[in-house]
Amino acid sequence: MNSNDAYGALKRFDEEYIPFPPFIAAANSIDANIAQYRETGLAQHLLVLGESGTGKSSLCRWVGEKYPRSVLLDRDLVPSLIVAVPPAATIASVAEAMLARLGDPSPSTGSISAKTARVITLCRGCRVEMVLFDEAQHIHDRGQVATHYMVGDWLKNLIDEMGVPTVFLGLPRLENLLQVNEQLRRRFSRRLRLALGQSDTETIDTECLQLFVTLGSCLPLRLSTGDYSWPELGRRLYFASDGRVAYIKRLLAGALRHAMETDAEQIGPTQLERVFTEEIWWEGIGALNPFNTEFKFRRLDRGNEPFERGSYKTPARGKSSC
Ligand SMILES: Nc1ncnc2c1ncn2[C@@H]1O[C@H](COP(=O)(O)OP(=O)(O)OP(=O)(O)O)[C@@H](O)[C@H]1O
Ligand SMILES: [Mg+2]
Repeated sequence: MNSNDAYGALKRFDEEYIPFPPFIAAANSIDANIAQYRETGLAQHLLVLGESGTGKSSLCRWVGEKYPRSVLLDRDLVPSLIVAVPPAATIASVAEAMLARLGDPSPSTGSISAKTARVITLCRGCRVEMVLFDEAQHIHDRGQVATHYMVGDWLKNLIDEMGVPTVFLGLPRLENLLQVNEQLRRRFSRRLRLALGQSDTETIDTECLQLFVTLGSCLPLRLSTGDYSWPELGRRLYFASDGRVAYIKRLLAGALRHAMETDAEQIGPTQLERVFTEEIWWEGIGALNPFNTEFKFRRLDRGNEPFERGSYKTPARGKSSC
């Protein structure tokens, strides 16, 4: 494999959307909510929760590509408004982020109520049909219960005034924001999780293996199980990825880079063991490496382990495609 082929494959691999089951379920719900709004004018809201690396921002990007902006002579049409909620978000900063995405020339000008009014006017002017709030847990991360209640109240009024379907995407703790404000909670009765492991028919090991094989088929390399069976490789992949697409992708991208360096023609447990240590967890050696024969088959979610709750470690070296 020459390096041009490999870089081309890595680029395609990075850009491709894989329709794994929870991603499809969320994408279908979003489509259905937009279709219902177009047909009836009714706005249904959706909460999409997932640990880091489960595909929340990718889902937003997918929506943005399916319902893209267009530029008319007198205005922009923004069918899907995607807002990344800033860290330590306040009501003002959320309104500003929305105004910026709507093309307001001076998003930080004016009182909170003036900004809110501009958001609503611009949403109507730009024919917004859905608003997606990515990183919505940032709204929850600031302040105490009283603040959460107030922010929740503002969001509830904003949602009602805009009158379009909304999607809140964030880490699982985002659910706590809704617990505080009953009126907001009622509007988000539909909740989805992006993690694998929700199928009634497949085990999480099988789902991980399927995702690995589907993603692997985008690469110009053969997948091998080495001395393991396919089900055992699936189990090991689950422990190595915690069932999150980002980590499965990182393993494959790392293995492809290795294959380029070593002229290997296949990806198997030996390569995956090495990539796990180099790209996911540098302490993941021997019994702590899911691809090693000594591995003890347990989740790596204790303190300082890669899947400790709320953590998403950046690659140990080099640029990751994830
Ligand atoms: N449906 C998909 N098909 C292929 N790759 C995907 C898909 N969803 C996510 N990914 C890959 O997983 C990586 C992580 O996804 P993403 O950034 O969307 O996760 P996230 O849930 O937003 O994480 P965070 O909470 O850290 O922001 C992406 O870079 C992308 O390469
Ligand atoms: Mg994200």
